[in-house]
Amino acid sequence: MKSFHVTTFGCQMNEHDSERMKGMLESLGYAEAERADEAELILFNTCSIREKADERFVAHLNQAAALKRRDPERVIGVGGCWAQSVKDQVFRQFPFVDVAFGPGQVHKLAEFLTSDSLTAQGFFEFEGFTGHLPTKRARDFQAWVQISVGCNCRCSYCIVPSTRGTEVSRPFGELVAEVERLVAEGVREVTLLGQNVNSWGRDLRPERRSFSELLRAVDATGVERLRYTSPHPKDMREDVVLAHAELRSLCEHIHLPLQSGSTRVLKAMRRTYSRERYLDRVALIREHVPDVALTTDVIVGFPGETEEDFAATLGVCEEVGYDGAFTFIYSPRRGTEAASFADGLIPHEVAVERMERLVEVVQRRARERAQRFVGRTLEVLVEGSSRTDPTKLRGRTRHGKVVNFSGLAAPGDVVQVEISAATSQTLAGEESLLARALG
Ligand code: 5AD
Ligand code: SF4
Repeated sequence: MKSFHVTTFGCQMNEHDSERMKGMLESLGYAEAERADEAELILFNTCSIREKADERFVAHLNQAAALKRRDPERVIGVGGCWAQSVKDQVFRQFPFVDVAFGPGQVHKLAEFLTSDSLTAQGFFEFEGFTGHLPTKRARDFQAWVQISVGCNCRCSYCIVPSTRGTEVSRPFGELVAEVERLVAEGVREVTLLGQNVNSWGRDLRPERRSFSELLRAVDATGVERLRYTSPHPKDMREDVVLAHAELRSLCEHIHLPLQSGSTRVLKAMRRTYSRERYLDRVALIREHVPDVALTTDVIVGFPGETEEDFAATLGVCEEVGYDGAFTFIYSPRRGTEAASFADGLIPHEVAVERMERLVEVVQRRARERAQRFVGRTLEVLVEGSSRTDPTKLRGRTRHGKVVNFSGLAAPGDVVQVEISAATSQTLAGEESLLARALG
């Protein structure tokens, strides 16, 4: 039997796409190898969101080249956003690559592997959803559901519209049927995936659909936990906020990317919302879902960001009090509008210093926010053992918080955990044996 190994970089959409690659390869008779050096087919599912992502991947690719020199029969494949963003240059830059494909062309990998062609090939036009391919889920009880591909936003810093193309939604009925099937298979938590989930359905014909309609229909399948990522603040409307308040399965967690707290910078980023509008969305969410966990993404050092702009970002983080945030130093990406900005470039030391100040605020507020869970008993979906202490279990609350706790549960169980301590990142506690006994 032939063997494969996939290394995944980037976001949850890429994790999803890798599960589909694995499922497709298994249906072709391949078996997954634990390590790349044991595999005949070495695949990389790449990301191009920031320069660091590129650099990390290139180091891995060079290791694969060394393996191929030892055993020239090996096949090296590169998929995902980086592959898409450099297209045919891949083969010039990395002549040992046999096959390269974009995120909309994963199925072509199967075609390549089953053909007799020995020449390197690249596939880069969007042809179909990876969500249509067979899958191999990392955990039996959790599933991604790809609701759309691509993005119609034009954020000036972002490479995604050029790597994943314009937005195409999967049909309503198809998605609901997929979740019904997953629930029947025993899946307890479903995460709907799209580059901008809030705009899902606007391109559907003959009938346009809205994301809140989809949320309601998915809730009605009886799935226990429902999540989605990522929304866009500009498209986050009251119907979706109300769905959080009303739908039993929809978790009390919203990831609402801020990017900057300065209206001037938001404009240059082409985010199409202002600081006030963003804060207004937060207020609406908190009004209807008071205990919601909010997380975000923030970029520092965008061209032209003044100390005053940065102070505005700190101000929003202070005011909102996120439960967690991913913070990034701006990195110019090929082909994006912002990469051509020549004025107001921020020296790296200034960006690093701003980042440190931002992380201080984000972590302090997250730590403060997390204290509200101490003393409460929360529902936790067990994912496995704790990464730091294997005698303990690890799981997630509906708020998306990681909990390390002692107890008797197994992965896939939903248990009640008494929370005794909280840091900015994780909660700690003990499984409620009373709840288990009453269970
Ligand atoms: N530089 C830095 N961060 C970026 N992001 C996207 N593009 C860039 C870039 N060019 C960040 C945004 C986005 C997250 C996934 O990555 O914050 O929400
Ligand atoms: Fe995901 Fe964006 Fe990276 Fe593509 S570039 S893998 S969409 S994070």
